[in-house]
Amino acid sequence: MKPAQGTSAAATPSFRVEEQLAYCAAQARKTVAQTADYTKLPRRISAGKNQWEYVDREDWTSGFWPGTLWYLYQQQPTGFWKEKAEGFTQNLAPVLDHQTVDHDLGFMFYSSYGNGYRLTKDPAYKQVLLRAADSLATLFNPRVGTILSWPRMVKQMGWPHNTIMDNMINLELLFWASKNGGRKELYDMAVSHARVTSQHHFRPDGTSYHVAVYDDKTGQFLKGVTHQGYADNSMWARGQAWAIYGFTMCYRESREPEFLDRARKSADVFIRRLPEDQVPYWDFDAPDIPQAPRDASAAAIVASALLELSTLVPDQSAAQGYRRQAEKMLATLSSAQYQARNQSPAFLLHSTGHKPNGTEIDASLNYADYYYLEALLRLQKLQQGKPL
Ligand code: GLY
Repeated sequence: MKPAQGTSAAATPSFRVEEQLAYCAAQARKTVAQTADYTKLPRRISAGKNQWEYVDREDWTSGFWPGTLWYLYQQQPTGFWKEKAEGFTQNLAPVLDHQTVDHDLGFMFYSSYGNGYRLTKDPAYKQVLLRAADSLATLFNPRVGTILSWPRMVKQMGWPHNTIMDNMINLELLFWASKNGGRKELYDMAVSHARVTSQHHFRPDGTSYHVAVYDDKTGQFLKGVTHQGYADNSMWARGQAWAIYGFTMCYRESREPEFLDRARKSADVFIRRLPEDQVPYWDFDAPDIPQAPRDASAAAIVASALLELSTLVPDQSAAQGYRRQAEKMLATLSSAQYQARNQSPAFLLHSTGHKPNGTEIDASLNYADYYYLEALLRLQKLQQGKPL
């Protein structure tokens, strides 16, 4: 069923965080029951289907299922969740035995090993994270000041140095490593990447390009283009979501005021242009709105980011506004319209992975579920008066 049009925001259903956390745990138990092999990671359930399609450890989304299991362990620290989280996490380490393929190591390792280390302090996890950070750092180009996101696109697309907005999320691994025994340069790289991205990756109205292309020798910004969005100048919903989440995280880690400013500008234009039910279309400029598919993954990422942003902005009325906005988005994602419930073992429906490619349209996606669960846990902490 497609999401309803014109639902009044005032009529969004209320939800209880604890009930939604119990729902996520029940759905995840269904996936666990169907997924005995630790080398198979559930990635998507296509529209109208009820079974996960699996990927191997090399996929950019391979960290999200183990990360989801760690979040469930955080909520309910039982041997059941720990054993599963450990099994799927430890399957990922061989990715680091070959040359660095692209920037996705942060998504893959910080969601899995990062959450695992946060919750268990297992020193073996720390070593893997430090190796992952060093591997990611090999893609940093000091002449540009950012990480090369997609080495394969240098020749394929003629993009000598390309940085995608999604890359912002991977900086968290560098920040973490610099504070946990890694080189100080990792911190400097993360700050430089965020600064250069803030300078070139945005249009004057605060919306972002998906890909920024630079001259790899001079560092000059050449052009902003899209890969997964509708057009070079459109606002691809998940790209903007990565910007909001990434700059919020960079401000938390560095306290550089320009990152807070960028996070707020990115969030404000996203919020201003949302449809009534608060879940974006896959691209805010898709020509077939309101028939265009939604992207619940972007809503989940932004809800989680706004909860953190609400703890960082000094202005209390702005803080309350971001928190209320996150709650509205989570209320919609917690409604029957957006939840898989008895249809499949996923948490959420109606995400879009790669529309121009014709793949993962109106699907369930492992990262939509991961960020939805993260947002619920963050909201639970805020409701309990605890720090995130
Ligand atoms: N990082 C790829 C995506 O957001 O689809």
